[in-house]
Amino acid sequence: MMRDRGFVSELLQRAQGVGCSALVFTVDLAVLGARYRDVRNGLAADAPLMARLATTWQIMRHPRWIKNVAIGGAPLIFGNLKDAVADARNLGQFKQWVDGQFDPSVTWRDLEWIRDNWAGPIVIKGVLDSEDARRAADIGAQAIIISNHGGRQLDSAPSTISVLPRIVDAVGDRLEVLMDGGIRSGQDVVKAMALGAKACSIGKAWVYALAAEGENGVSDVLKIMKREMEITMALLGVSNADQIDRSVIDSGD
Ligand SMILES: Cc1cc2nc3c(=O)[nH]c(=O)nc-3n(C[C@H](O)[C@H](O)[C@H](O)COP(=O)(O)O)c2cc1C
Repeated sequence: MMRDRGFVSELLQRAQGVGCSALVFTVDLAVLGARYRDVRNGLAADAPLMARLATTWQIMRHPRWIKNVAIGGAPLIFGNLKDAVADARNLGQFKQWVDGQFDPSVTWRDLEWIRDNWAGPIVIKGVLDSEDARRAADIGAQAIIISNHGGRQLDSAPSTISVLPRIVDAVGDRLEVLMDGGIRSGQDVVKAMALGAKACSIGKAWVYALAAEGENGVSDVLKIMKREMEITMALLGVSNADQIDRSVIDSGD
């Protein structure tokens, strides 16, 4: 959530105006986590010179990426923020804007404000415990995404699959429970569904595919995952996603 509520309100209106049907609101990014790999890989604003040189060398070794993404995909900016950040291509300027704009004091009252300013369904992303899941249901969210931001925020946060069953037990009858984090195959999706998730979302799996093969890569990943889900379901003896429940998990009998 940004401090400038006028800007947030404008973003919400624009999203609604172009037909976005649901709003996914991320709650685990009050401040940016300590991402030392970004520094090591030259992706942080204050990355050391050697790290930045290593990144430049990596880029030079991928001419196809330069042609298709760096040049073909230009301008590489956050389109939503281009009017707000003076030079959104510059990591330093972008980070400065994020640090100044992200509001770490956000509470459930701000989520009520979001709800009152958004006409469609709201999905709260970044929930990891039952109490927060209940609060999400109380304010009228239609769904939550159990997520630890792909392990990129709070080091030592629990894995999402480990907290999924108890959160489903707590609120599964009040809202839809989705999950992300570590989903790398269709079988992972089936496992999450067996533990009560209605659906899963993916992060790195589509990002890597996009970087490697563009749109085709992403559609391949989805096809592969679908196929893996079908194989897993066939081997479990279920023909319909509705039949995937805890009984398909080995109970140790
Ligand atoms: C490069 C990258 C950028 C991301 N940016 C955002 C973001 O801006 N907002 C957000 O809610 N989650 C963001 N995420 C987290 C993903 O939405 C998702 O929660 C996470 O990647 C799921 O874990 P997985 O990568 O293991 O599938 C990002 C993830 C990656 C890898």
